[in-house]
Amino acid sequence: MIEETYIKQRPKSRALYEKALNIFPSGVTHDTRFILPFPIYVSEAKCSRKWDVDGNEYVDFAMGHGALLLGHGREEVINAVREAVLKGTHYGGSSELEIKWGEIVKRLVPSAERVKFTSSGTEATLLALRIARAYTGKSKIIKFHGHFHGWQDYLVVGERPPWELPPVGIPEEVLRTVIALPCDLSILENALKKDKDIAGVIIEPTGGSWAKVPAPDGFLERLRELTKKYDVLLIFDEVVTGFRWSPGGVQGLYGIIPDLTTLAKILAGGFPGGAVAGRKDILEPLEFSLDEDRNQKKKIKHQGTFNANPVSAAAGIACLDIASTGKPQKEASDRAVEIRKALNEIIKAYEVRGCVYGDSSVFHIALGIAPRNFTAGDIRHPMLPPEVLKMGAEKNLARLFQLSMLIEGVDIFHLGGLVSSAHTDEDVEKTVKAFEITVERLRKEGVLK
Ligand SMILES: Cc1ncc(COP(=O)(O)O)c(C=O)c1O
Repeated sequence: MIEETYIKQRPKSRALYEKALNIFPSGVTHDTRFILPFPIYVSEAKCSRKWDVDGNEYVDFAMGHGALLLGHGREEVINAVREAVLKGTHYGGSSELEIKWGEIVKRLVPSAERVKFTSSGTEATLLALRIARAYTGKSKIIKFHGHFHGWQDYLVVGERPPWELPPVGIPEEVLRTVIALPCDLSILENALKKDKDIAGVIIEPTGGSWAKVPAPDGFLERLRELTKKYDVLLIFDEVVTGFRWSPGGVQGLYGIIPDLTTLAKILAGGFPGGAVAGRKDILEPLEFSLDEDRNQKKKIKHQGTFNANPVSAAAGIACLDIASTGKPQKEASDRAVEIRKALNEIIKAYEVRGCVYGDSSVFHIALGIAPRNFTAGDIRHPMLPPEVLKMGAEKNLARLFQLSMLIEGVDIFHLGGLVSSAHTDEDVEKTVKAFEITVERLRKEGVLK
């Protein structure tokens, strides 16, 4: 029933998907967009909403995969971009815009004594590892189960359960340089004690997938102490949380300062861009020397055609100027709390197994599974094992839930959402209604109990 209704409402999306199948593997350009029977094809977006080619309207919780803290088409950002585009889209040279952009990053992000721009978050984590290895002279990296750091070779291992399964297409030699561990301090300390070749530890500071797999309380503080004790670098991957959890990210909120930070998404105001920021001495291997021999032997090579391009820089400056006030973060977080609470009320009222939880301006939905600490209120850390939290629901249940929410005009993302400052009371109401209808529908069809 759900699938038939979904198909019936979207003849144009279906036709586009059929074309796409002849162009892209599985018809999609990003793995997250893959959904059967076919994805929606979006033609326009504004503030908190977007429209597909069939004219269906959605409350958008994908929000540029987290890049759009201010919602779609925020006037200040669009004006800055318009002005920049008219002056050229790539100068093939340095610009004042990149300096202004870098200055704001330095001002907002506590660990940012120096900044190096990249073109994406994946490139930022890749560069951060190279810097950590060059600076320490060591080769291995520790990462945590369920944490996502982009699709680059070193960090895809241990991203989803089963954690040990080697990712496809990555040489064994590469996998030997990365150790994926559970978020457990004693296991971490043992690894740090045993192996003297560890350059750094990288973490999503909220826990994996923007707090979908929350880190235990106090984990970050102890992690900071342990990385200091064993003399390894601590890298915060703040690609999602940067400028969202607070103007200075998670580190700005809790005052736990990493050695290196990776940034993207909100950084570039909805345009492509990333950065590595960190202590001046740690970024020193990126610097040129007058000694050519040192350049040959010690300098990290780093290029990238679109690094700090003027359009992304202009968008980033306009967005970060607004984000620096802390106002959009508060507005978005307040709405996310409302959503988390209201959806849990529905789960309770319908007596189904599930839970809506999260932190800051995000929410995650677990379906068909109930944590021991469920309450019809705001939940931050459901008591469920990390591998269960990471997946959120059995695959077909997750798919039918997403389709049903789309039918009701809500586009959720990874079984959850990233709330923006553009979301309104009406969006919350519409989301709550869509969720209620969906829960009822899934219960009736016997897929949610
Ligand atoms: C925490 C984290 N790190 C890195 C990345 C990779 O960023 P990008 O998609 O810009 O390459 C992502 C993307 O979602 C992310 O969530």
